[in-house]
Amino acid sequence: MDNHDLLVVKNLKKYFPVSGGFLGKTTAYIKAVNGVDLVIKKGETLGLVGESGCGKTTIGRCILRLEEPTEGQLFFEGKDIMTYDRTRLRQLRRDMQIIFQDPYSPLTLEGGWARLSVKVSRYMECLRHRSARSG
Ligand SMILES: Nc1ncnc2c1ncn2[C@@H]1O[C@H](COP(=O)(O)OP(=O)(O)O)[C@@H](O)[C@H]1O
Ligand SMILES: [Mg+2]
Repeated sequence: MDNHDLLVVKNLKKYFPVSGGFLGKTTAYIKAVNGVDLVIKKGETLGLVGESGCGKTTIGRCILRLEEPTEGQLFFEGKDIMTYDRTRLRQLRRDMQIIFQDPYSPLTLEGGWARLSVKVSRYMECLRHRSARSG
C-alpha cells in the first residue's frame, strides 16, 4: 500500500446464509464474493464487469459497508474502514458512492480505444471519489 492508493481491498468475502430445513436453520451459504483483492489509485477508474450474479454489486456494497463483509480488509485513503462506527461511515459515504450501470444502455465499443475508456468508465458499475468527480 502506498500514498497513491485511494482504495485497497484485500481478501474480501461475503457469504449469504441460505435458510431452509427445520425452523429455518442455515443450511448453506451463497459465496457471493470469495477472496477479492483490488487497488484503486488516485485518479484511476475501475470498472467491474461480469455476468449477472457474479458479485459486482455485493463488492460495492461491502466496500461502502452497506453489507457487512464476512472477511477481508478495506482501506480508504490509508484508513482501515472496517473499524469505522456508524457516524464515521456516514461521513465516508459522502466521499464514496456506487454508480450503477444502466442495463438498457449497451456497451458499444466502436470509436477506438480512447473513446472506449470513456464509455467503459461511464457504463460500468464503479466507485468514484468526490475529488475525481469535481476534478
Ligand atoms: N441479500 C442477499 N441475500 C442472499 N443472496 C444474495 C444477496 N445479495 C446478493 N445475493 C447473491 O449473491 C450473488 C451475487 O449477487 P450480486 O452481487 O447482486 O451480483 P451482480 O451485481 O454481479 O449481478 C448472487 O448469487 C445473488 O443471488
Ligand atoms: Mg449488480
